[in-house]
Amino acid sequence: MKSVLRVTGGRPLVGEITVRGAKNFVSKAMVASLLGTSTSVLRNVPQINDVEIVSGLLSLHGVSVESDPVAGTLTMDPSNVDLARLADIDAHAGSSRIPILLCGPLLHRLGEAFIPDLGGCRIGDRPINYHLDILREFGAHVEKHSETGIHITAPNGLEGTKYELRYPSVGATEQLLLTAVRAEGKTELRNAAIEPEIMDLIAVLQKMGALISVDTDRVIRIEGVSELSGFNHTALSDRIESASWGAAALATGGEVTVKGATQPEMMTFLNIFRKVGGDFEISDDGIRFMHPGGKLNSIVLETDVHPGFMTDWQQPLVVALTQAYGLSIVHETVYENRFGFTDALRKMGAHIQVYRECLGGTPCRFGQRNFNHSAVISGPTPLKAADITVPDLRGGFSHLIAALAAEGTSNVSGIKLINRGYEDFLGKLAALGADVEMV
Ligand code: EPU
Repeated sequence: MKSVLRVTGGRPLVGEITVRGAKNFVSKAMVASLLGTSTSVLRNVPQINDVEIVSGLLSLHGVSVESDPVAGTLTMDPSNVDLARLADIDAHAGSSRIPILLCGPLLHRLGEAFIPDLGGCRIGDRPINYHLDILREFGAHVEKHSETGIHITAPNGLEGTKYELRYPSVGATEQLLLTAVRAEGKTELRNAAIEPEIMDLIAVLQKMGALISVDTDRVIRIEGVSELSGFNHTALSDRIESASWGAAALATGGEVTVKGATQPEMMTFLNIFRKVGGDFEISDDGIRFMHPGGKLNSIVLETDVHPGFMTDWQQPLVVALTQAYGLSIVHETVYENRFGFTDALRKMGAHIQVYRECLGGTPCRFGQRNFNHSAVISGPTPLKAADITVPDLRGGFSHLIAALAAEGTSNVSGIKLINRGYEDFLGKLAALGADVEMV
């Protein structure tokens, strides 16, 4: 696929598209298949690059993966799990954080695991300290080698533990679940993340034979079992992709029906969408997102862990907020550095200032640490076309929305990155009447 998309904007997106399983669940369920003694079948799997990356990683570890991309089915047979070469994992995984989640299952199956040092600069400020801490808590030995990455061993097996997360990290909660289910004895996790994708992972693990209870106040308890079978499961829908198309409908003054979008996981987004002035209709098979005409309203918004407003919804919505009347304030409390994408929006005419202070809400852990993690957006400002480069997955999709909303023709480079998490986005753009062309 060529990597520059020419977008002639200024026309509303109108039509219907379908969203399949959640990227941030599917990849973890695929890792869970390593824990089983029999074949697992996962349905509603989207055709995105992240799924290809994890399929490749599983294959490198001896899992046979069969895919029917049209039906969206993956069949994974873990009978011959084996260690992979670090260089192969490294070359294959790129900047993906999934290799770290293979550790628990591999320690149970093989007694050791190798992973590239994901804490390196390649992925900037996204550390893996919680993950390594958790593995140590279960009794694993973690050895860091500057050249060869991280070697983790569990010569005496893994034992259940009590652990409290400093922050309810999604990945660290998954790390603990994937390790605890087959560890000896009981494990208790406090301050756990409880995102819907984690609940679906727990459902998968229960199908495999695990004993897990989710108690009030972010406490998860697991009783280790000695064997798990495969699973048969249909992935929950991708609420980030659904919200992205909803934001695109709002920013372009259009109307997009997202088949497959589900209300319960999107309630917080829908509340904000309505406050901004968007309208929606929920049916059994999806959600129709609409710009009802008239003025959009500015808002004060804070991202948070579930059930708060997702950090991944923030970037697409900010584009729509450039069209709202008055001053909107967005306080990002999950990642310290997620407003880089606003540089391109400013170039396109948006009025956005970023601040180090915690604006508009409760002080967060980034407040005293010099991170530009609050944004003030003043609108409405007409957007004009520009040549822009996609910085990351969500920021990139937001640039695309901005180009679709802008008058004139924009060239968006590095567009391939969007394939990591948005299935057939070019086909969907065409179905919604966008004027786009790869050049
Ligand atoms: N954190 C640490 N140490 C760790 C792990 C996390 O300090 O060892 C910090 C992070 O730096 C961040 C915060 O904890 O400030 C939350 O990170 P979390 O671990 O929850 O994120 P993640 O598991 O790495 C997943 C999604 C992200 C999504 C976040 C938050 C996957 C593959 N990724 O990341 O999705 O933003 O949860 O919901 O599930 C995306 O889809 O584009 C994406 C980035």
